[in-house]
Parts: sequence; structure tokens; C-alpha cells
Amino acid sequence: MIILGIETSCDETSAAVLKEEKGALFLLSNVISSSLDMHSKTGGIIPEQAAREQVKFMLPVITQALEKANIQIKEIDSIAVTYGPGLIGSLLVGVETAKTLAYVLQKPIIPVNHMIGHIYANFITPPEGEAPKIEFPAVALVVSGGHTDLLLLEGHGKYTLLGGTRDDAAGECFDKCARLLGYPYPGGPKISKLAESGNANAISFPRPMIGSDDYAFSFSGLKTAFLNTTRNHFPILRNNVPNSNAGWQQVVLENDLTEKEKQTIYDLCAGLQKAIVSVLVRKTIKAAQQYNVKSILISGGVSANASLRKTFEKETKEKMPDAKLFFPPRFLSTDNAAMIASAAFYHPKKVSWKEITADPELYF
Ligand code: KG4
Ligand code: ZN
Repeated sequence: MIILGIETSCDETSAAVLKEEKGALFLLSNVISSSLDMHSKTGGIIPEQAAREQVKFMLPVITQALEKANIQIKEIDSIAVTYGPGLIGSLLVGVETAKTLAYVLQKPIIPVNHMIGHIYANFITPPEGEAPKIEFPAVALVVSGGHTDLLLLEGHGKYTLLGGTRDDAAGECFDKCARLLGYPYPGGPKISKLAESGNANAISFPRPMIGSDDYAFSFSGLKTAFLNTTRNHFPILRNNVPNSNAGWQQVVLENDLTEKEKQTIYDLCAGLQKAIVSVLVRKTIKAAQQYNVKSILISGGVSANASLRKTFEKETKEKMPDAKLFFPPRFLSTDNAAMIASAAFYHPKKVSWKEITADPELYF
């Protein structure tokens, strides 16, 4: 079985070829082209521009994915495509391309929910690695720029949403706090880098909803706490409204920061990261214990975060020693088409090209 995956929900244009052999999924190619640099300059993604870039990249990316996999397009058994959630203009490029290919090649389409796709990045055999032995029941945390969701998985296609964010996603909180300091999108990797030189206990931030008896999350208040705390540490900013594109650029970009001030920036980042990681880990482990799961699956862009990985490893060992913890390889944490092909393999709901439409508001 060979599946061509297509992912165009946001600013990445991706195509991948996956092959199934003896029940394991192998990655033959995974090509990603991103319009991220363009969006960094404007301080965020402009949907219209992202969609135009998708149109430019779509066919070259598919061609390259097939070439890298050494596969002729007629050898493909089915086409998996993200149909939501995402930006409508971007989604349409992938969906219409998949429909056209399906019609011309007379192959079925498998529509995939982008968020379920993130979870299934965990099911791909990593290059040079072994096929992951994931057992059900499992809890899955999907943590990205747009979503923070916790699900219970009782089998392929059998999932229940336990809770999600009431406002901002964890990735959004990383991105917006980084922007306050003057760093462009995506801010998560930057905060994580600065946090390496900081003391996570020097500046404390609230851990929103950490003790609530449900599985809901909230990260919007943490952004405000970060803004106020940063202002308190840098009096020069007290009467200064952050520029909407550049944030408080002068704080981090001017060269005249003292060593002490630089350390304060590192400590702010480390404190923020610790607050986000603590909430994500605590709630996921709580769900894992309540449902006595065999596997814990972490996915989405924020799952690339080193501190999140380390904390999950420690807490799983201590609190759920019989459960196995899974993270996708880092290159499959952020948006990619391989995860879409993987989800399609395990949920092979084939439809004809006439039966699929993009759904930007799709949820679970
Ligand atoms: O899954 P993804 O690529 O796109 C969405 O579906 O949103 O996730 C992007 C998010 C961004 O918010 C980015 O800042 C965050 O993932 N991210 C990280 C790290 N790498 C990416 N956040 C924290 N630490 C990282 N190392
Ligand atoms: Zn995503």
C-alpha cells in the first residue's frame, strides 16, 4: 500500500509518500516548503499571501516527493489530504489538487483532520528506527500554534475529546510572548533557546487551570502576566505600548543591555516555559492515570520543545511507570504531509473526489 499525503492547512506546503509493509509504515519522502520567512517580516501570517504561496509550491512539492520516493504517480494507491481545520485559502489548494489527481488517476481520496494527523506522526517508523509499538487505550496531547487538545484514544478512529483550550493555544502563548520581546513568528523555538540560559525558578508565572477538575486549558492570562512582569522588570517599558509588529524591540535588540538585564530576559523565558510545560504535563498525566492508559502520545509543533519532552519523560516514569511515552521525531512535530498519510492509513475512509470539501472550522 502506497499513500501520497498532501498538507496545506497553513503556511507549509507539504507532500509525502508512505509505504506500508508488514503492518509498519515507512517514510519514503516528506517534502516541506514553507512561506514562513515571508510571514516573519509582517509579524504574522497573512492568509491571502499564504494561499498564494501554496499555489506556487504545490505541484513542485508533489513532484519532488514522488522523485525522492522513486515512485511513479500511477503506483500510488490513494491520496490523503488535510481538509481542515486551517486557513480556507490554503486548505483549498491542497484539497483541489488532491481532487484533480484523484479524478485523473481514478484513485480514492482519504480526507484527514489536521489535528488527528498530528497524533499519527507518532505511528510512522522513524528513519533508522523501529516501528513504534503503540497500544490502546492512549491519551493524546495535541499542542500546536492553534490548538491545545487532550484526547482519549480507545482504538483507531475511536477518540473522545477530554478537553481543549478555552482561549489561546500553548504555541500562541509562546509566539505572542516572543513577539513582545521583538522576536518574529514562530516564537516557541526562540523562547526555548533563551530559556536554556535562564533560571526557571527566578521569576514565577501563574499556571492557569492547573488544579481545575476538568481537562480544559487557558493560556491567554499567561500572556498578560508575561507582559506585566516584563514591564515590572524593565521600567523603561512601563509607559511604552509594544509596537504591534516589532514588540518591544529595544529591549532585546539594542546592544546596550547590561549582563543583568540579559539574564532577566533569559529568566523570563525560562519561567514562562516552565509554567506552560507544567500545565501541559500535569493535565496529561492526570488523564493518563484516570483512564489507566498504556500509551501517552504527544504531538504538534510545541512537542518539539526540549523541556516539555524532558518533563514528560520524568513524570511518566514516576507517575505512570507502565505506560509508554511517544513523541514524533522533531522533523515530524511541526506541520508535514507524512502525518496526514499516516492518519489516512489507520482511518482509511475513502471517498470519491466529488465528496470532499475543505472545512476551515473542522474540530474533533
Ligand atoms: O503544529 P505547528 O507546526 O502548526 C500549527 O498547526 O499550529 O505548530 C507551530 C507552533 C508555533 O506556535 C511554534 O512557536 C511552536 O509550534 N513551536 C515550539 C517549538 N517549536 C515549534 N514551541 C515551543 N518550543 C519549540 N521548540
Ligand atoms: Zn499543525
